[in-house]
Amino acid sequence: MRDQHVLITGGSSGIGLALACQAAAAGARVSLIARDPGKLATAASQVRADAPAAPEIFTAPADVADEAALVAAIRAAEAANGPVDVLITSAGVARPGHFAEIPVSVFEHTMAVNYFGTLYAVKAVTPSMCARGRGKIVMISSGAGLVGLFGYTAYAPSKFALRGFAESLRGELKPAGVTVSIVYPPDTDTPQLAEENLTKPQETKALTAAGGLWTAEAVARATLEGVRRGRFAVTPGVQLTALAWLHSLIAPVLRWSFDRTTAQVRQRSVTPR
Ligand SMILES: NC(=O)c1ccc[n+]([C@@H]2O[C@H](COP(=O)([O-])OP(=O)(O)OC[C@H]3O[C@@H](n4cnc5c(N)ncnc54)[C@H](OP(=O)(O)O)[C@@H]3O)[C@@H](O)[C@H]2O)c1
Repeated sequence: MRDQHVLITGGSSGIGLALACQAAAAGARVSLIARDPGKLATAASQVRADAPAAPEIFTAPADVADEAALVAAIRAAEAANGPVDVLITSAGVARPGHFAEIPVSVFEHTMAVNYFGTLYAVKAVTPSMCARGRGKIVMISSGAGLVGLFGYTAYAPSKFALRGFAESLRGELKPAGVTVSIVYPPDTDTPQLAEENLTKPQETKALTAAGGLWTAEAVARATLEGVRRGRFAVTPGVQLTALAWLHSLIAPVLRWSFDRTTAQVRQRSVTPR
């Protein structure tokens, strides 16, 4: 990562911030894009504190769902730090809940940020990467991008969409020397997870508990190590690795097990103590 320009959307918090700290510590020129300028400034200070020898951290506020604003922020980052060598799209939102209670606007917003927010960034940097014959694209998906789960009717499709995008794009960019990776993190202790837990059905909590609770730093380490090794699918932990390898094969068993877990949660919630 030394002397590489690493641009991270969603770099002001959680997994994106942990990636920024580790990339900066490895000598990268880091650029962060997210909406809130205050959070960006705090994040830049934290990256500098963690990696005092790292070059200046560039930040630009933009909503990744607004293509024009995002492209302008990426161009500003390129002007400050040079062409992007590594793009990491970590900006994302999740609003779990029962399907009947989630308004259509949430489905649209989730897709706009998680899928189109990634697509716009990738579109903006790939021409330069292909022209230079090198570059890395790293998309942060989710375990819910491998298997659909109770309570994730808005979130899982946006992360599945990233998987289809990454799988299709990988072969197209390979001849140009540009690699594509997609990361499937398990539950990770971040502000997003805390926010999710406010609306997450008990059934969803029971189902996602199997992957354990990871720190953002551990997910970031696994991500950067996977990217360094040239992995396409990066799966932190045994459960996510097994899921990534076997999800289609074991889908009937998973559905049976998921239904059993959700039925048990429902049973507990109707049985008086
Ligand atoms: N935490 C988990 O358990 C978990 C598990 C699997 C996958 N993931 C995925 O990992 C990624 C990072 O999540 P996290 O848990 O680290 O979340 P987080 O701590 O809430 O960080 C999310 C980041 O995205 C930015 N962001 C959100 N909406 C944005 C928008 N419209 N435009 C630009 N930036 C935006 C946020 O900053 P602003 O709000 O200032 O814009 C923040 O920097 C997400 O894609 C998430 O789906 C998380």
